[in-house]
Amino acid sequence: MFATRFYVFSVLLLAVPTTFAASASDWRGRAIYQLLTDRFSQTNNQATPCNPTQALYCNGTWNGITNRLDYIQGMGFDSIWISPVVANVEQTTAYGQAYHGYWAQDITSLNPHFGTADDLKALSSALHKRGMYLMVDVVVNHFVSTSSVATSDNANLDFSKLVPFSNASDFHPYCFITDFNNQTNVEQCWLGDQHLPLADLNTENPSIVSTMNNWIQGLVKSYGIDGLRIDTAKHVRKDFWPAFAMSAGVFTMGEVLIGDVGYVAPYTQVLDSVLDYPNYYTLTSAFSSQTGNLSALISSVTASQKSYSTPSVVGSFLENHDNPRFQSITQDISLVKNAMTWPFIQDGIPILYQGQEQGFTGGVVPANQEALWTTGFNTSNKPLVTHVTTLNAARKAAAAANSTFLTTPLKFVTQQDPSLLAVSKPPLVALLSNLGSNSAKSSTWVASGVASANEVLVDVLSCAIVKADGSGGVSVPVVGGLPQVLIPASALAKNGAVCPSVATGATGATGSSSSTTLATAKPSPSTKSGAISIRSGLGFGGMGDGWRVLGVVLLGLLAQGW
Ligand SMILES: *[C@@H]1O[C@H](CO)[C@@H](O)[C@H](O)[C@H]1NC(C)=O
Ligand SMILES: *[C@@H]1O[C@H](CO)[C@@H](O)[C@H](O)[C@H]1NC(C)=O
Ligand SMILES: *[C@@H]1O[C@H](CO)[C@@H](O)[C@H](O)[C@H]1NC(C)=O
Ligand SMILES: *[C@@H]1O[C@H](CO)[C@@H](O)[C@H](O)[C@H]1NC(C)=O
Ligand SMILES: *[C@@H]1O[C@H](CO)[C@@H](O)[C@H](O)[C@H]1NC(C)=O
Ligand SMILES: *[C@@H]1O[C@H](CO)[C@@H](O)[C@H](O)[C@H]1NC(C)=O
Repeated sequence: MFATRFYVFSVLLLAVPTTFAASASDWRGRAIYQLLTDRFSQTNNQATPCNPTQALYCNGTWNGITNRLDYIQGMGFDSIWISPVVANVEQTTAYGQAYHGYWAQDITSLNPHFGTADDLKALSSALHKRGMYLMVDVVVNHFVSTSSVATSDNANLDFSKLVPFSNASDFHPYCFITDFNNQTNVEQCWLGDQHLPLADLNTENPSIVSTMNNWIQGLVKSYGIDGLRIDTAKHVRKDFWPAFAMSAGVFTMGEVLIGDVGYVAPYTQVLDSVLDYPNYYTLTSAFSSQTGNLSALISSVTASQKSYSTPSVVGSFLENHDNPRFQSITQDISLVKNAMTWPFIQDGIPILYQGQEQGFTGGVVPANQEALWTTGFNTSNKPLVTHVTTLNAARKAAAAANSTFLTTPLKFVTQQDPSLLAVSKPPLVALLSNLGSNSAKSSTWVASGVASANEVLVDVLSCAIVKADGSGGVSVPVVGGLPQVLIPASALAKNGAVCPSVATGATGATGSSSSTTLATAKPSPSTKSGAISIRSGLGFGGMGDGWRVLGVVLLGLLAQGW
């Protein structure tokens, strides 16, 4: 008992600043809006023109984000992922300016282009007041030295402006990665090229390791960060990550940019989560045309379900800042809507990259990093805004209707037609196809045993009713190549935002509107500290931070038997 009380007091002391140590299970069931700070919103709602192909700063700020949280929350997102916050090189390099944040120079200072420490804290507090989480992108693997052109060794690189590592010996010897099949080469040689060498931090050096661990602990605490997206995770030795993640004390999602499930899966043992690149590639390819291969998506998903340590917290996405937008490949609205549906009906955490909802079409970097303010944050008559808002609401409603929804692996229901895909994740049934909007072919999804006998289901995307047969099976014709997402009419609130005319669920239930879903999310057991994470989803959303911490501590005391 004494040990327990001592533990509770340590929690109390640690919890007093603004962090809540959100764990993987606190993040499960959330939906993330990914934004590039420089490209999302300018201070005071300004909207000066930004040409992404110039690769220069366009002056988005943390204040700008804080002022536009209604836009993000209005679509049902309850978390944001922002680009790296630390000070970067100021020069205009051969590849433009460091507006994206991945060219760190001083990790002990903030990037002044994005605002002040108080601005970042204000963003964090504003999110927490809404019950939303802040995920910050961090880079451990590399810094950017200020020398313009490197030579054959690192003797002429100027490390003097790098903070806190300003000595050549803090970095691996200069060599570019030449062999991606040689993991030592991948971890110890450098990314970038002779025009912009990314100085590879010597993460084998124990003193550097401890500096980085202290740094991340301080960063998370100072700014009330709830989760980390970790850049270039596969370029740092795997056994670096557990101590780093523990020092951070929050959810970690690593970028392991490769399509091979077998390569990616081990990183789910050393970090909470990864970005789901293997299924990103098969997803993109499956829906990019009528000849896309849906079986390949089934294969990669099945393989990842078997090998990821916790599939329910892996980050699922169709677009991000590193890859051409989906609509640079096809603008067929049915294919786009099918592909966009995937992240919201699968096992992991859905992530939407800014601008996808507005129909942006940018191709390879930097064209895919358009400024969102050019849209005026207009949500009316935007079919993809409606699409994603409905998908977020449906996912929350499914999670509220079945407490095992988020942790039960999805199952594919075999279809006769190779252009169709049916996914069962009770109580949700997702019907996808890559027939496209102009196909003359008539086709029907047939899925048995996916609902209760004679259950009334609703396609949340069209509000059409689908009645299950006596053995819980459905047979649904494809209309215009569009996806359908079925959930029980009883899981939708009668006065809600999603198909209220056919909903039969209690008023005020989850799904009644995108902004009330947070307060009704169910608490989930934590994999980390029970005393801290019991706060999850208990609806402190309207209170100030101080009250929330007090609530956390009181609940922690109760949970410990005080
Ligand atoms: C960003 O700020 C710089 C410096 O004040 C200015 O030169 C540039 O035109 C601005 N860009 C945009 C898109 O506002
Ligand atoms: C850089 O590191 C080397 C090797 O540890 C050391 O001998 C040298 O004094 C350091 N230089 C500076 C400027 O700290
Ligand atoms: C792998 O890469 C390391 C670092 O570049 C190098 O020293 C080693 O010789 C390489 N191993 C093989 C088998 O090529
Ligand atoms: C589709 O993917 C499956 C599974 O990866 C593979 O076996 C099959 O050969 C692929 N079909 C085509 C036409 O490429
Ligand atoms: C919002 O976008 C829609 C669709 O493009 C357009 O019809 C409408 O005029 C826009 N509203 C504003 C205020 O710009
Ligand atoms: C909830 O999900 C579980 C696991 O998939 C399933 O067995 C059960 O039938 C579902 N219950 C409802 C009411 O959908």
